[in-house]
Amino acid sequence: MNKAAFFAPLIRGAIIAKTGAPWIVAVSQTASGQKAGLRIDAGEAASPDEKTLADIFTKAFSSEKKIPAQISVKSGGEEYCFLSAPDFAGIEKIRQGAQGVSIAAQAEGWDIKDERPGRADVVKNRITLVTGGAQGFGEELTRGLIASGAIVFIADLNLAGAEKLAQTLNAEYKKTVAFPAGVNVSDEASVKAMIENIALTAGGLDLCVSNAGVLRAASILEQDIESFKFVTEVNYTAFAVVSKHCALLMKSQHAAAPAWTTDIIQINSKSGLDGSNKNGSYAGSKFGGIGLVQSFAKELVEYGIKVNAICPGNFFDGPLWSDPVKGLFVQYLNTGKVPGAKTVAEVKAFYEAKVPMNRGCTGPDVLRAALYLVEQVYETGQALPVTGGQVMLS
Ligand SMILES: NC(=O)c1ccc[n+]([C@@H]2O[C@H](COP(=O)([O-])OP(=O)(O)OC[C@H]3O[C@@H](n4cnc5c(N)ncnc54)[C@H](O)[C@@H]3O)[C@@H](O)[C@H]2O)c1
Repeated sequence: MNKAAFFAPLIRGAIIAKTGAPWIVAVSQTASGQKAGLRIDAGEAASPDEKTLADIFTKAFSSEKKIPAQISVKSGGEEYCFLSAPDFAGIEKIRQGAQGVSIAAQAEGWDIKDERPGRADVVKNRITLVTGGAQGFGEELTRGLIASGAIVFIADLNLAGAEKLAQTLNAEYKKTVAFPAGVNVSDEASVKAMIENIALTAGGLDLCVSNAGVLRAASILEQDIESFKFVTEVNYTAFAVVSKHCALLMKSQHAAAPAWTTDIIQINSKSGLDGSNKNGSYAGSKFGGIGLVQSFAKELVEYGIKVNAICPGNFFDGPLWSDPVKGLFVQYLNTGKVPGAKTVAEVKAFYEAKVPMNRGCTGPDVLRAALYLVEQVYETGQALPVTGGQVMLS
């Protein structure tokens, strides 16, 4: 493993433990240890263990009155340099400083403020990953989390889409609020590389929204098994892969910040709570996802990681349903799935009528559930329906 990526979450954890705030720690390619406000000797061991390092870093920050903007770590004869700031604007200031612009914080470090978040600020400055973040629910959640103050890594198979969205949001907010990340969640090497990049860029992770998912609706009498396996791979197995690598990063951070809780939230479905006719591969993968959520929740609670699922109802206004060419409304109209329906609007009205609240689920509905799950520190392993009353727990 990249040693800087190994140190970063432990440094970030030690700063979180000291400040109570979700700090940013970025590896520095250019800074030298001479400018560092804090130099830490991590010992000579070639592969020091997490617990020993957590203690070394925690002790190093204990007597600091401010959080130094530049930190250097000596280990095994090498030196690793990191930049630290309460947000990415601060990191950018230090980088400018390194290029000759005089920045007070660079010499003095950052003041420690006790700013416990209110309800509206539960994700403020939190480092967040949204898989499948380039469109649909993922895009809605990315936008909503950023509007609530989070930093989001938009991870998607569609890298161009993630880049475009990140660019739009960074321009809209006039600061760094989003990073694009190309990833195939069902490829472990790809997920591992993405998580390492998050460690080097931001120092850790507070919230993973495992949202990427696919649907191939078909009768079990007709569906080819490859298509069944594809759905299982992305919706079920890839959730385990993403959870594994996020949890490893969160666990490191936890070693130095034992009171800090982090979250893995799976975007599941109402079809994870109630079977779906001629859509068994999807419903089965989502039911399985809840089994993983409950199991991971029991295991990872030891590291302060909560694991929960959100089970949204149908997102009728998203591309899956409303795409004018390949959306489900058009498909259902063309295949005559809704008896008597002659237009897309009639197909939509048929599905809306199945919901007691008579409308589809929206991005803000799901965002509200996600913020609740982050705020609620006394719950884990739950599957939270957001279905307008269509599916109720028993
Ligand atoms: N749309 C709905 O009605 C609905 C309802 C309930 C739950 N959900 C769930 O919400 C989640 C998002 O659904 P959506 O409708 O917004 O989907 P969508 O098809 O609109 O978007 C999914 C995104 O995931 C990305 N993606 C797909 N496979 C990937 C992979 N292997 N690696 C990385 N990225 C990948 C796609 O490129 C796309 O950007 C899914 O888990 C889905 O099951 C959707």
